[in-house]
Amino acid sequence: MTQTNSLVLASGNAGKIKELQALLSTYSLIPQTQFNVSEIEETGTTFVENAILKARHAARISKLPAIADDSGLVVATLNDAPGIYSARYAGQGATNVENITKLLRELDGVPLTQRHAYFFCVLVLMRHVDDPCPIIAQGRWDGYILEQPQGEYGFGYDPIFGVSTHNCSAAELPFDIKNSLSHRGKALSQLQRELKKAN
Ligand code: IMP
Repeated sequence: MTQTNSLVLASGNAGKIKELQALLSTYSLIPQTQFNVSEIEETGTTFVENAILKARHAARISKLPAIADDSGLVVATLNDAPGIYSARYAGQGATNVENITKLLRELDGVPLTQRHAYFFCVLVLMRHVDDPCPIIAQGRWDGYILEQPQGEYGFGYDPIFGVSTHNCSAAELPFDIKNSLSHRGKALSQLQRELKKAN
């Protein structure tokens, strides 16, 4: 790691950037756009593969350590869709509302007992483009898919992700509470433990 603890963040997703910066407060996260790093095509078939692709690409262009998040929503009754396609479930460039609308349509008539879902997040930290041992951390957050969107906070599928422990949607949770429960928060805690061991 560099002395300044700067990390290039291989994402242009404003929601992810906000959550990751709050959770990784001891590092200065520089969005990859500042180095003119374009978004790379996510050609992997797993969250891990895609996170490695993104981190390596950002490290290559920026010549700095890079961190990537690949995450998504997994719904068992839909054969694990949208999974790695969560951002583009309703098509390339789809909005959050379009993705949510498609998911609710697919689950139309499915009873609550069969609406189990989880968010999954993989974080990959590559110290340089040829790093043979990237740090890989992951986290999972179990819940269920609501029948209607609820709440205004968060991003992505938060308004339809039911949080059993709090009896509300992820979009109704204050920022800090979501971070303390979420797949991303858990992956970050694991990453921080691994970083401490490595330093
Ligand atoms: P990625 O950029 O391919 O990793 O896209 C991840 C997508 O998964 C996002 O665009 C969201 O649609 C969804 N997603 C990941 N994490 C969250 C979350 O914390 N809340 C809501 N949606 C999420």
